[in-house]
Amino acid sequence: MKTLDEIASYWGTDKARWGHNYTELYEELMSPHRQDPVKLLELGWGSGCSAAAWMEYFQLADICIVDNLYAPGWPISRPSWVEPTPEPPPEFWDNPRLFRYYGDQADIDVVARVVDQHGEFDFIVDDASHMLSKTKDSFALLWPHVKPGGYYFIEDVCRAHLNEIIRMLTQPDPSTPPDPFAFDVRASHHPVDTDFSIAWIQK
Ligand SMILES: C[S@@+](CC[C@H](N)C(=O)[O-])C[C@H]1O[C@@H](n2cnc3c(N)ncnc32)[C@H](O)[C@@H]1O
Repeated sequence: MKTLDEIASYWGTDKARWGHNYTELYEELMSPHRQDPVKLLELGWGSGCSAAAWMEYFQLADICIVDNLYAPGWPISRPSWVEPTPEPPPEFWDNPRLFRYYGDQADIDVVARVVDQHGEFDFIVDDASHMLSKTKDSFALLWPHVKPGGYYFIEDVCRAHLNEIIRMLTQPDPSTPPDPFAFDVRASHHPVDTDFSIAWIQK
């Protein structure tokens, strides 16, 4: 069985080891659920290569994706030593396990449509704008829709935003005191890409 990193590398998402190396963390946390009919929501689909990777990794999952721009061919700048990778074929977009939503990651109506149709999620991945305000608004809207035991991930947190994101994750519900143990953060391991981290919290 292929690892998530092998699958992500094949499809060309920069979550793979050649890019941010987030696959290492995802494999660790997601592999116990690989054979389950999980629900995963990703904000920001780009050219669809991460969606293709999630679909291949989780054979029974429903994969929901949100983007404010329909962007097949979204130019991912891969290092020259990375092999050219395939774009998902046209029929990929018709897969009944894939659900596409157009709109802003922090639009309350978009989020309402997603959760009305799918309920709570096992995994939510924010790989959309990476703007602090949008990241925070999405988290506020979507955190209530993470299943107990589920995970919320925020990719590409730059150093300047890290403390703010940590504050947000340690107090996801403003009516309760912050839980200093509720979140974790891991810096990207890639030697040429040390500025970005992935932050996550388990519910
Ligand atoms: C880094 S790409 C996503 C890459 C993809 N997740 C992958 O790993 O291959 C970021 C995507 O977020 C989308 N995006 C940017 N701002 C957004 C927003 N405010 N709401 C929704 N999507 C947004 C962009 O259109 C772009 O397609």
